[in-house]
Amino acid sequence: MPLINRHLIDPNDLTLEELQQIIELGLKMYNQPKAYSEICKGKILGTLFYEPSTRTRLSFESAMLKMGGTVLGFSDANTSSAKKGESIADTIRVLDDYADILVMRHPREGAPLLASQFSTVPVINGGDGGHQHPTQTLTDLITIQNYRGSISNLKVAFCGDLLFGRTVHSLLKTLSRFENISFVLVSPSELKIPCHLKEEIQQEYNVEIIETTSLEEHLPEIDILYMTRIQKERFFNEEDYVKLKDCYILNQAKLKHAKDNLLILHPLPRVNEISYDVDDDPRAKYFEQAKLGVYVRMALMAMLLGVA
Ligand code: NCD
Repeated sequence: MPLINRHLIDPNDLTLEELQQIIELGLKMYNQPKAYSEICKGKILGTLFYEPSTRTRLSFESAMLKMGGTVLGFSDANTSSAKKGESIADTIRVLDDYADILVMRHPREGAPLLASQFSTVPVINGGDGGHQHPTQTLTDLITIQNYRGSISNLKVAFCGDLLFGRTVHSLLKTLSRFENISFVLVSPSELKIPCHLKEEIQQEYNVEIIETTSLEEHLPEIDILYMTRIQKERFFNEEDYVKLKDCYILNQAKLKHAKDNLLILHPLPRVNEISYDVDDDPRAKYFEQAKLGVYVRMALMAMLLGVA
């Protein structure tokens, strides 16, 4: 089924083949951006951000502008009519007339899904609560493809807040569908991945999972290390957050025992979990990852709009 006019709410909305098509087009756009600079002329992206964002919102905006389109929207729910009590359904009924494609971030899980049920234009989930973040997953996948040449035969470690981290949930689910992937899940016992997610990926995809509290233990065998911040805003009390906030800090000393071709990724923003001395290590690719995120979002929007 072509991608035109579809919504992207959950990474499983895309088949493996579709994921690969988006990544391939994203890499073409990255290598030859000029060739695509007018394909969205006359198209409008609407950004509905009910929760803070830097990269997701601005990379979507940059992506649309790089394709010759325009952008409207809000980045603070307090400046929108949500503050006056307007429902998502009513907002969408109006906005889908103002824009050709919408991206929504919301603190409530399921809000973008609800929006998609009322929208006549494609809705993209820009992150819903601690649930999913499919375009970060596209960003992660295009980075792996670009720097490793393929998304298969990899031992991938996730480290940090695996309970609340929506980027982790989306990427784990998606990578499980690729060939010969295994996981090392590093977290404090309070922040392990949700049981239902673990069961789902083990039962559906039969993926090997090791759970540990030690970052160092498996580091020498890891191909991709996906660091994440502790998701302060999802904690019920400050005390629990303070106790866990610095539980893992990746630094040069720890990396001594890691592979030479390790890929260190992070969805950003970073807080303390990667020390600045890692930034110059050639294995650290988190800033390149953020850059590639623009191109994969260009590819996604171009395909949903049917212009590429
Ligand atoms: C992530 C998010 O919003 O979930 N940020 C992003 O979109 N790159 C990760 C995070 O906030 O920790």
